[in-house]
Amino acid sequence: MTNTANADGRERVHRIWTELQRATVDRHHEWRTPVLATTGLDGLPQARTVVLRGADAKAQQLVFFTDSRSPKVAELQTLPAAAFVFWSKRLSWQLRVRVSTQVHTAGPLVDTAWARVSQSAAAGDYLTPRPPGSPLHQPTEAKQDAHHLAVVTAHIDHLDWLELSREGHRRARLTQDTAEWLVP
Ligand SMILES: Cc1cc2nc3c(=O)[nH]c(=O)nc-3n(C[C@H](O)[C@H](O)[C@H](O)COP(=O)(O)O)c2cc1C
Repeated sequence: MTNTANADGRERVHRIWTELQRATVDRHHEWRTPVLATTGLDGLPQARTVVLRGADAKAQQLVFFTDSRSPKVAELQTLPAAAFVFWSKRLSWQLRVRVSTQVHTAGPLVDTAWARVSQSAAAGDYLTPRPPGSPLHQPTEAKQDAHHLAVVTAHIDHLDWLELSREGHRRARLTQDTAEWLVP
């Protein structure tokens, strides 16, 4: 790759991380709610929306919160490999991110996260007596005192960026500070 291409790649990587970080603080950012794909315990694909809670370029890490009793936690504990898909219409950018996850159910990371979540409307989501997905006889039920918050850190193994444009689509495989351009 030429120096110009390298500089362009670094700029691209930098812009993508700026958007990811914005998404963790801006409720209206389209990248705030990516789809997380895992492998189900039956070996078949599973996918669901999560809220992006952290994006650290230096550590190459994304973070989301979940209920430690949720099926996705059991899936990630069995097979930590997962993928996020982000789409932004405003940017015309898709990001596909392959990650290796780690589930934290206790310790400072969880305590800090709970201090944050317990002040928000989402607190009740982590205080249900029964695990997510359990049948209920009525729409809601009383909350517990102990929480079941888990913090999932996801280390990026591979990042694929696609830009849709009338002038021509562009796609790149990104590392921490380079972009390798690919046929879209
Ligand atoms: C906009 C949106 C945001 C969501 N954010 C989260 C989240 O941050 N963490 C989470 O565990 N579930 C979140 N959910 C619910 C999941 O999509 C999913 O329904 C639930 O976690 C059960 O997933 P599982 O059975 O695969 O574990 C969100 C759903 C929506 C629609």
